[in-house]
Amino acid sequence: MSDRLDTLLHERRTFPPSAAFRRAATVRSKAVYQQASRQRLRFWAAQARELEWDRKWTKVLDWKPPHAKWFVGGKLNASANCLDRHVRTARRNKVALLWEGEPGDRRALTYWELYREVNRFANVLKGLGVRKGDRVAIYLPMIPEAVIAMLACARIGAPHSVVFGGFSAESLRDRINDAEAKVLVTADVGHRRGQLVPLKNNADQAVAECPCIAHVVVVHRERGTTDAGLAHMKAGRDHWYHELMDGADAYCKPAVMDAEDMLFILYTSGTTGKPKGIVHTTGGYMTQALATTRLVFDLKEEDVFWCTADVGWVTGHTYLTYGPLAAGATCVMYEGAPDWPDKDRLWAMVERYGVTIFYTAPTAIRAFMKWGTEYPKRRDLSTLRLLGTVGEPINPEAWIWYHKYIGASRCPIVDTWWQTETGGIMITPLPGVTTTKPGSATVPFPGIEATLLDGSGEEIATGGGFLAITSPWPGMLRTIYGDDARYRQTYWSRWDDIYFPGDGAKRDAQGYFWILGRVDDVLNIAGHRLGTMEVESALVSHPSVAEAAVVGKPHELKGQALAAFVILRSGHQRTGDLEDELREHVVKKIGAIARPDDIIVTAELPKTRSGKIMRRLLKDIAAGRALGDVTTLADPTVVAALKTKYEDEG
Ligand code: WTA
Repeated sequence: MSDRLDTLLHERRTFPPSAAFRRAATVRSKAVYQQASRQRLRFWAAQARELEWDRKWTKVLDWKPPHAKWFVGGKLNASANCLDRHVRTARRNKVALLWEGEPGDRRALTYWELYREVNRFANVLKGLGVRKGDRVAIYLPMIPEAVIAMLACARIGAPHSVVFGGFSAESLRDRINDAEAKVLVTADVGHRRGQLVPLKNNADQAVAECPCIAHVVVVHRERGTTDAGLAHMKAGRDHWYHELMDGADAYCKPAVMDAEDMLFILYTSGTTGKPKGIVHTTGGYMTQALATTRLVFDLKEEDVFWCTADVGWVTGHTYLTYGPLAAGATCVMYEGAPDWPDKDRLWAMVERYGVTIFYTAPTAIRAFMKWGTEYPKRRDLSTLRLLGTVGEPINPEAWIWYHKYIGASRCPIVDTWWQTETGGIMITPLPGVTTTKPGSATVPFPGIEATLLDGSGEEIATGGGFLAITSPWPGMLRTIYGDDARYRQTYWSRWDDIYFPGDGAKRDAQGYFWILGRVDDVLNIAGHRLGTMEVESALVSHPSVAEAAVVGKPHELKGQALAAFVILRSGHQRTGDLEDELREHVVKKIGAIARPDDIIVTAELPKTRSGKIMRRLLKDIAAGRALGDVTTLADPTVVAALKTKYEDEG
């Protein structure tokens, strides 16, 4: 966190919206902030009215801390909001999804076409016995079927649990079992950097240990081009998506859902080894998704909106699927790597589709910077009018680069702070009114109340502290699936009735928030959340490892990288390739995003006299910093020796 403060101090320029942008913006006046803070519930009710409801709510908020109900008594269907209401208007013929596969294959689906596909797949799911309330797991590449499957689940009231396609078989298995999903939707393969990702093989390994799964639906990604041998189909359990779709009816009546019925579960990392199933419901989540999409991205009918996030993360749920489709937008979706076949792939797509709004993660921007300006310069990016970032703090250098080379010094940048748990954007500029400062997510969205507190709950006007959300908001998580005690403990136990997001932040004299990063044992590796404990449990499940401590260290591109310190079991002699073996073991257990950069085998770890591992010191060692206070250590020589060893091996 102190590294980040240092880099923030160097950049002092501010960026007010241009007169031209402000004139055309959806929100042109700061008055929206005062109105929303004076009448917060009225503000959110007005946003909710932008959705189509089967029955209006009787009460906007019922708050029994830490449990909130929004739009009590209201009824609606998320898929009907994303599709049915558009196909009744001229948007019927508008493109909803502009999709491109990594090998270069393309599909454009109009709202009408997407509507038909979703209806048919909803009937397929029903045919497989999925009923309202049953969970459906989705493990797919970035192909239109991912969006179709999510909306089909929403249509019949079956909460989906999307698992990122980069997660391993074991991660998939644990998530399926925790949610007790009945059906899994997957694909034979996906494409990544010219390689085939064997999703169905992973799914087979996972499902072998998932007694809850009755059926597996397999999308034939390679239909017509590659042999079917890429997926082994188990009779009775596995079904080809296209075969089931052939026989499916073209209309499925949307289920009438209560505002508080579950829309989805999405697993995210926490401070223990077990991921948390974050539960989102329908009315409040959709309200915040739509409001933030319209107002933060200044969305207009003619925009082409590209959020690069994978559907496996919350950003892909809220800003690739529910928000923009509820708004009737044209969305770009891309399956593969940004440098395939060359480093101008994304810019070629911006040019090809005339993208106007582009939303990505700082880790991607740092990679673009490293690749050089020649790649964006090859392409016509003049259609862009607004840029966004999400997922981790953006360093001011990356912000300025993005502004200059992608935004032609013309496009406002919205740096949006939020979390899987918050459902939608919480702290962000409004591009037509907010003067931005590189590295700051600026101020809370209208209707959101955030502040900084110290450990004892005292408010901090300016300076550093813990970020806190002081009143409930519509898109907030409702609980952790199957573990309400953990919900209370994780988010609501630090202060009374105030939400603790787990981030540290600084507030400047103008009330701008500068997010500094996590204050718990959660890391942010290339914009992906990962718990140190998850990686530690993966390491100690290896037969050679007795003990492991994992910390984050600063990394130029990824923001943070993993450094693992391991103690071997007695009797285990280390072999030459043990480090690689341990890396691959973690990849097998969790997925490639968890591959440790550094593995340091050591005889001892620095511990306090009560036996607690001093992570703070390990972080100092991994970051190459001078060591902090070592006086509480049981044996101060351990850490000095470890530092020397790390420097020698690194
Ligand atoms: C971090 C992603 C600084 C933060 C939507 C948060 C950010 C975690 C920003 C949530 C931002 C997200 N500036 N940090 N604009 N956006 N974060 O659940 O630490 O994958 O707690 O949600 O990412 O990650 P998650």
